[in-house]
Amino acid sequence: MLPGDTNPTARIAIVGVGQVGAAAAYALILGSVAGELLLVDVKTDWRDAQVRDLSDVAYSINSGTRVRAATHHEAGQCDMVVITAGSKWSIGETNVQHTQRNVSIMRSVVRAMTPFRPDTVVLVVSNPVDLLTSIAQELSGLSKSRVFGSGTSLDSMRIRGLLADKAKVAADSIHLPVLGIHGDFQVVAWSTATINGEPIDKFFPRDAFKRADLENESKHRSESVICAKGATPFGLGSIVSSICSSVLCDKRDARPVSHFQSEFNCCFSLPAILGREGIMRTIEMTLDSDEQASITRSAKRLRDTVERIQA
Ligand code: 2OP
Repeated sequence: MLPGDTNPTARIAIVGVGQVGAAAAYALILGSVAGELLLVDVKTDWRDAQVRDLSDVAYSINSGTRVRAATHHEAGQCDMVVITAGSKWSIGETNVQHTQRNVSIMRSVVRAMTPFRPDTVVLVVSNPVDLLTSIAQELSGLSKSRVFGSGTSLDSMRIRGLLADKAKVAADSIHLPVLGIHGDFQVVAWSTATINGEPIDKFFPRDAFKRADLENESKHRSESVICAKGATPFGLGSIVSSICSSVLCDKRDARPVSHFQSEFNCCFSLPAILGREGIMRTIEMTLDSDEQASITRSAKRLRDTVERIQA
């Protein structure tokens, strides 16, 4: 990381230090993103073991970040809170049952952190991320711009990487955001795709590869990893670290993250500028009519689910 990527006076709390929370902590320590990292978990023996293990990382690389155990209340007083708490899907459990369990966990961790410091920024990573971000936002009492979710930011990195491999260019020369609801209904904004600033159609003939194949490979990557090892900790961990750096260093860079959309009264991903106050603004994108219709359809479905849960 570069010096402008770190904020040595900042404190970040990670709530839930299972595979994903621990990988996020690891990435944050390697980048010395903040001065202090507070680990919170209801399993206190586990949490304390993670503190000791991750402190060794900090010592071994002379990181500017110190690690310690904390309570939910202390987490709510940090500059930034990352929520990765959630249960793993169990064999025999339906999606609805799993979602209900994670909604209960989200409610209980957010309630345990309230009242939040009014200028804290909360990043929700637990799945289903758009639904849980909408719930965390409602319960937190914080302004809407200060609670957002990782949303489709990892999906965007995945498809960008796959396309970069095909185009044989650096991934950061590619603009191809994934938008909408994280998971099966996410929308790849092909109509906005550019490579080295040029529309993708100028770079690749239309029949060079099937866009649907690339989309499927990207969309189903998490399932294949989760089936084999239970979670996607490293991808999510590195996304968390770079989002925290954007917020705490007030970078004002644009990322597709899940944030409040007033038209639909729920949270899903559109590109947003991130800074010290969280979501600084949404970037308006001109999508083609199919992309826009898919986002609208899935956003309405999500809004109905959120309203049912909140009723
Ligand atoms: C991912 O997309 C499961 O949200 C997680 O890797």
